[in-house]
Amino acid sequence: MAVREQNNFILTEGTKEYLSLWVDKFAKDPSMVIKKAGEIYNIIKGGNNLLEVGCGLGHTLLFLSYFYKFCQGIEIMDDFYNRCVVNVSEKNNVGIFHGDAVDFRGGDRKYDTILFDAVLNNITHAHFYGIMKNLRGLIEDGGVCFMTSLADQSLKQQYIEGLPALLSRKGFNPTRIAEIVENNMHPKCQASWWSKEELGTFFEAMGGEMECLAPTFKDDPAIEVKFDVLVRFP
Ligand SMILES: C[S@@+](CC[C@H](N)C(=O)[O-])C[C@H]1O[C@@H](n2cnc3c(N)ncnc32)[C@H](O)[C@@H]1O
Repeated sequence: MAVREQNNFILTEGTKEYLSLWVDKFAKDPSMVIKKAGEIYNIIKGGNNLLEVGCGLGHTLLFLSYFYKFCQGIEIMDDFYNRCVVNVSEKNNVGIFHGDAVDFRGGDRKYDTILFDAVLNNITHAHFYGIMKNLRGLIEDGGVCFMTSLADQSLKQQYIEGLPALLSRKGFNPTRIAEIVENNMHPKCQASWWSKEELGTFFEAMGGEMECLAPTFKDDPAIEVKFDVLVRFP
């Protein structure tokens, strides 16, 4: 509780508005999300219990529910949550918590996989660290935490400065660039950049061993500034 008050975790109005834009798009055509879920599966493989932070409309959860005995989603936004509940309603091994992952209490269940699919860029560092401190006790020995689509801090300056060159590069999508440049993702929207070193130190202090991987989302034109992170908790 104190941590939450201290850091005042919250998604900004701009971030919520930005995320809302994706609700209809993903509802109409979840193929992109499902394809990525396949890539995620290739890394995490399946197991007993999966916890997905920021499960959106639930398409990734639905896909992964065939490879885990139980899947728990957490979704903070009302419109995502409401549709997610409908999307997973036929599955009896999927549960959804409506709220901030900072407030999730897992009961006795431990998880062998915790997934954050394209969540970290929409929350502040303090928010993410608060979530991890809350969830750490729920990770089984030998479990993993997998985070996709982080934007790289070390490339941030280079990326912003190199914008004109990138814009002129064949096949590069200028709209996508505008979306990911800091504070320009959407008016009032937060976009967080991540340092591999800082994250490594954070997870090490939690007893985790971090590895940086190439992005699972291979169609993203901004792929060169993205990376995925796999943390093993021995
Ligand atoms: C890119 S979407 C995830 C897509 C998902 N894999 C799917 O299958 O549709 C990221 C989600 O994270 C949610 N989110 C962001 N911060 C959160 C938090 N602190 N707690 C719970 N959900 C959060 C957002 O509302 C958004 O729906």
